[in-house]
Amino acid sequence: MHRHNPSSKAVSSNDAVAEAARILRHGGMVAFPTETVYGLGADAFNEIAVARIFEAKQRPRFDPLIVHIADADQLTRVVARVPILATALIESFWPGPLTLILPKSATVPDLVTAGLPSVAVRMPCHPMARELIRLTGTPLAAPSANSFGQTSSTNADHVRQSLGDKVDYILDGGPAAVGIESTIISLLTSPPAILRLGGLALETIEAVTGPISRPQPGVLPVISAPGMLPRHYAPHTPLRLESILTPPRDPACRAGALAFCRAPATTRFVAVEVLSPTSDLREAAANLFGAIHRLDRLSLDFIIAERVPDEGLGLAINDRLARAAAPCFQ
Ligand code: TXA
Ligand code: MG
Repeated sequence: MHRHNPSSKAVSSNDAVAEAARILRHGGMVAFPTETVYGLGADAFNEIAVARIFEAKQRPRFDPLIVHIADADQLTRVVARVPILATALIESFWPGPLTLILPKSATVPDLVTAGLPSVAVRMPCHPMARELIRLTGTPLAAPSANSFGQTSSTNADHVRQSLGDKVDYILDGGPAAVGIESTIISLLTSPPAILRLGGLALETIEAVTGPISRPQPGVLPVISAPGMLPRHYAPHTPLRLESILTPPRDPACRAGALAFCRAPATTRFVAVEVLSPTSDLREAAANLFGAIHRLDRLSLDFIIAERVPDEGLGLAINDRLARAAAPCFQ
């Protein structure tokens, strides 16, 4: 496989997308922008290419991938049927940050779905992602473009730092506008079930579908998505989640603060990131992973993160922070 990356801005984005599509058609792996986070894509029907994604990310084979499509025609190639409620969701929210779990068509490789009879499908709205899928001419299986369990990438630099030359090509589409992964809804059950909180708020979805079932606290879902693992999205620096930002007592301890809307009054933090000075949860979501990446590069002893309000996208932000903070127990 030919490894080459446009480092110079002289490459027009059209040329870059065409080159990326060519690499994908030849079984390569391309990191590409979406409105949520960057994805690491391969032709969903090419098992060898898909296997390379698992290898590059060090992702366990039991963790199925999301298939990204550009149009309705590609949907019919990957799913066996589309329930009525799914049609309503598609009409309301695609393209956008919503992934649907649907019965899979026989042609989708088992490697993509980790042997499940269902497939996760999403139509991203980033214009470069859609043009890439359209030009490649095939749906793309793509997890988030980061090593397994680590903080997701919201710009091309994060991808370079996390996966570097394991990727055949990195398409730079600027910073991700939403900044957290898609919301995942399963339509295999009635009522539908939420498998992962994400970039589309639950109440917005429920306005179309009616009540959606949530996992019972303490009860494992039938299919456990790794985004539901206790520890995920984690920086290298230990992270603590608190209701009020309190600096560590030990003066020798170098801590960074991840604040919601206001920097803490104390000067005890060696670095401070404020997610949204105007208390806007959308802005906070868009800045979340970038801020974590920046703090993670400072060799701090701790990152102390402040809970954001538990409403709208705040639920998904707190979910990411709680999993990034969970202790490693292997
Ligand atoms: O916003 C996003 O969804 C990003 C961008 C790149 O599209 N992708 C992403 O992919 O977050 P990933 O692989 O990091 O997370 C996909 C999640 C996993 O937790 C996986 O277990 C779940 O989707 N998933 C995939 N197929 C599934 C299925 N058939 N049933 C249940 N969960 C599934
Ligand atoms: Mg991920």
